[in-house]
Amino acid sequence: MTAIGIHDLELASTHHVLDLGVLAEHTGVDPAKYRLGLGQDEFSVPAPDEDIVTMGASAALALLERTGTRGVRTLLFATESGIDHSKAAGVFVHQLLGLPPQVRVAEIKQACYGATAAIQAAVGIVQRHPDERVLVIASDVARYALDSPGEPTQGAGAAAILVSADPALVEIEAASGLFSENVDDFWRPNDSSTAIVDGKLSISAYLDAMTGAWDDLVAHGGPDIGAIDRLVYHQPYTKMAKKAQARLAEHTGAELGEAGLAEGAVYNRRIGNAYTASLYAGVASVLDHEPGLVGKRLGLFSYGSGSVSEFLTGVVRPGAAGRDDRFTAALDARVPLDVAAYRELHAQQLPSAVDVETPRVTEAPFRFAGIRGASRRYERR
Ligand code: HMG
Repeated sequence: MTAIGIHDLELASTHHVLDLGVLAEHTGVDPAKYRLGLGQDEFSVPAPDEDIVTMGASAALALLERTGTRGVRTLLFATESGIDHSKAAGVFVHQLLGLPPQVRVAEIKQACYGATAAIQAAVGIVQRHPDERVLVIASDVARYALDSPGEPTQGAGAAAILVSADPALVEIEAASGLFSENVDDFWRPNDSSTAIVDGKLSISAYLDAMTGAWDDLVAHGGPDIGAIDRLVYHQPYTKMAKKAQARLAEHTGAELGEAGLAEGAVYNRRIGNAYTASLYAGVASVLDHEPGLVGKRLGLFSYGSGSVSEFLTGVVRPGAAGRDDRFTAALDARVPLDVAAYRELHAQQLPSAVDVETPRVTEAPFRFAGIRGASRRYERR
């Protein structure tokens, strides 16, 4: 059977960044709580002319410049910070990228799990039409209320993932483990731009879902824990991956230690939570920072509050050998904010019923130009 999986993977983030040391000074919290307790150094903050569309389009543009658009007939946009209740954010991306009309576009939502659902749908499409490739975009802005425990775990970022037959980076294996349960750990009502979260419950729900999904993976013919070389987890903050690996070791009896955690956290420590994109930022981080993974098996744990989760596995392909630390320079180029400027940006919410032009700030390829006649306008810079 033909291998299907991730052919290419690219990340994008925002114009601004907030250093958690700067936030700690403002909140009076020991900075070690953020850096060690949560495992986070910074978080990305969008400029007024950036959003999930501009980040997603920027990531996809860089990817498609390498791969071309041949065979792309589906664009799936996974997000939980949607910009419209009806229209898929991917429709704007389709236009910005100049894709032909013969492309189906849809948005997929289930908290941070959405991108994995999109990838599994993409694998199904490619299985049926091996000459087609599916562009999956995961893009999110993670926002919690100011001065709440969630505040230091905010962030923003996008991953563009091209799913194809005979993939260059990671073959996704057929067996996967699932675990879904209706739980009120984290959600965002339609009229709120910030999430409601029960932090402690969210951590235990995540860990219970992980062992549940693991057991289902084993029950469905997945590999033994000893046959998995690296584990990558959804990282709302990178300490969560440590907790997950410790729980999985306890659950399976394997000696996992902290292997691979630092390599899989390089980008996430600096982006913050990018919801749907977080697991795939972790995958990029591991591929870019751990040489010698070709031929090795990755275990990927995807969790979306609410909750739906999936444990899947993939085998690293030779194309990954050429990867290096490609995203740090983009993270270094972000413009630091002070707390006052960050809080002002956090408070900004554009009412959708007015005509408004956004200031020109971003230096990314695409910008959100504003709202005219209640509809959003985007442009290439
Ligand atoms: P908190 O109230 O800051 O927690 O909330 P804490 O006081 O327990 O401290 C956190 C850690 O820092 C603890 O370590 C402390 O010991 C340590 P742990 O017990 O966890 O190992 N600490 C220190 N370490 C070193 N030096 C110090 C120090 N002081 C304390 N001086 C919480 C933390 C994560 C709950 C909060 O930030 C939050 O609510 N975040 C948002 C929710 C979240 O991220 N949940 C994660 C699981 S759910 C998920 O992943 C889904 C999600 O991505 C959404 C989606 O699916 O759409 C969120």
